[in-house]
Amino acid sequence: MKQYRVLITDHLSEDGIEVLSRSRDIDIDIKAGIKNDELKLIIGNYDAIITRSGTTITEDLIENPGRLKIIGRAGVGVDNIDIEAASKKGIIVMNAPTGNTLAATELTMGIMLAAARKIPLANDSLKSGKWDRKRFMGIELYNKVLGIVGLGRIGSNVAIRAKSFGMKVIAYDPYIKKSKADSLGVKLYDRLEDLLKEVDIITFHTPLTAATKNMITAKEIALMKDNVIFVNCARGGIVNENDLYEALKSGKVFAAGVDVFEEEPPKSSKLLELENVFATPHIGANTMEGQEAVSRIICEQVVNALHGRPYQNAVNIPFMKSQLTENLQLYFSLTEKIGKLAAQIAKGRPEGIKIVMIGKNFEEDLCERKFDVPFSYQPFTIAGLKGFLGVYIQESVTYINAPYLAKDRNITVEETKTDQYDKFNDLILFVLKTDIEELSIAGTVFSDKLGRIVLLDRFHLDVIPEGTFLHFRIFDRPGIIGKVGTILGNHRINISGLSVSRQHTGEEVAFVSVDDPIGEEVLSEILAIDGMIEAKVIEL
Ligand code: NAD
Ligand code: MLT
Repeated sequence: MKQYRVLITDHLSEDGIEVLSRSRDIDIDIKAGIKNDELKLIIGNYDAIITRSGTTITEDLIENPGRLKIIGRAGVGVDNIDIEAASKKGIIVMNAPTGNTLAATELTMGIMLAAARKIPLANDSLKSGKWDRKRFMGIELYNKVLGIVGLGRIGSNVAIRAKSFGMKVIAYDPYIKKSKADSLGVKLYDRLEDLLKEVDIITFHTPLTAATKNMITAKEIALMKDNVIFVNCARGGIVNENDLYEALKSGKVFAAGVDVFEEEPPKSSKLLELENVFATPHIGANTMEGQEAVSRIICEQVVNALHGRPYQNAVNIPFMKSQLTENLQLYFSLTEKIGKLAAQIAKGRPEGIKIVMIGKNFEEDLCERKFDVPFSYQPFTIAGLKGFLGVYIQESVTYINAPYLAKDRNITVEETKTDQYDKFNDLILFVLKTDIEELSIAGTVFSDKLGRIVLLDRFHLDVIPEGTFLHFRIFDRPGIIGKVGTILGNHRINISGLSVSRQHTGEEVAFVSVDDPIGEEVLSEILAIDGMIEAKVIEL
């Protein structure tokens, strides 16, 4: 049997299937249209599943994920996948967001023109033997105000095309930079209501999220001018279908072009009864080019992910370690070690973790905000959580599920950025709050490209966090460290490094790195030394 098994549950263009078959270690099964009951019984036998919107990946379906590691969506929208459930199981959810951008853009323009000029009606009328030119009086796009809600890939491409028609383009998208809108020649509005009052035509290009569902209801439509045209090629439910129906019927809204529905296929959508609704059956992405692209992109990503190579477009992991600079990768690994150390030396039940990113190194926002996922932490926060929780939790902790596992355990997570701290230019500070103490550990990377732990509360240290350590706190008295060395030597445990720090409080903290394991018996001898406050074996 081949090493990896991939299941395709939807109609996928051959281009991607060819990509998969070029990998000799991948076995491909195609079961387009498989029902969830049957799928549930076999899903755990596959390493990856690839779908379009035909399969709804529910929590129940992946309850026992078996060997499933990847869910690939050949397209943009991942609203048919329970991302939280997948993330909790450590399953990567990936999509192919760029492949059908132009397909959806061009359908948007097509539907907009169809609605403005009633082209489908005119076509039907002519074919039914009529020559009725008066009936098909339309509206020109030229000089009209187009409001784009969601100025991402498709929204931006619609803006470019609309401008070439001589339209005035305005947009509402609270998550993009003003400079992006400026570069497109689009006026960005801070409030949706202000945009609604201005538009002659409105088009939607956002994902369906809690914030965008029913974004437009009768209340919003009432703010708009009369005779506006609505276009929705994004997702059904962004515009409330019933309220749009009433507005179209009363003549408040001139026409609507709709490719997507609250329920698909739409069994009882009243919109389809109206003459001024121009509808298509969710074909935004259906071009030869678009389907080839999404199929190839998702299959290439799945192949790379299965083989441990970098891949793009993971939806539930907001960054790729391989895309960080070499220096930031060192900080990433260091933060994971700091989290691991914190979990081993902390006392009490964890309540909160704060990651403070200090210095110019961390100025850039490394996490592309994903709107379908609840967490969009910086990579260092995720690394710290993974390191920390990996010590506590028996089940496997990954960069994907770490934020969910923290949330499940009611551990609050906070991240902040600040300028220089103490004598360090760049520093990662990990602050752990438990029910009985607050512990701070900080690390930095020096020019030798080695990450070091440099602070433990107020103690200054120099520890390269790799391997086995004896960590202890003692009273600041002569001879104690010597006794520790003697005990380790007696048990033929070789010391490879030592970092000691003291405070005016009369305490010292030490990390002794050792080449050999330290057993319980040795630790008991060390704990029995007079002046020893505490001692622990730490694995980093
Ligand atoms: P994208 O991620 O590039 O753009 C989405 C934009 O929506 C982003 O800029 C984001 O900031 C914005 N946004 C998110 N929440 C918002 C909110 N509450 N208010 C305003 N703006 C908000 O995605 P894209 O590739 O442009 O695709 C957009 C959507 O189109 C997809 O999510 C998908 O649902 C839909 N789509 C449909 C078809 C089809 O067949 N009809 C094809 C492709 C895509
Ligand atoms: C998408 O989100 O990519 C589109 O809705 C297209 C599709 O599902 O085929």
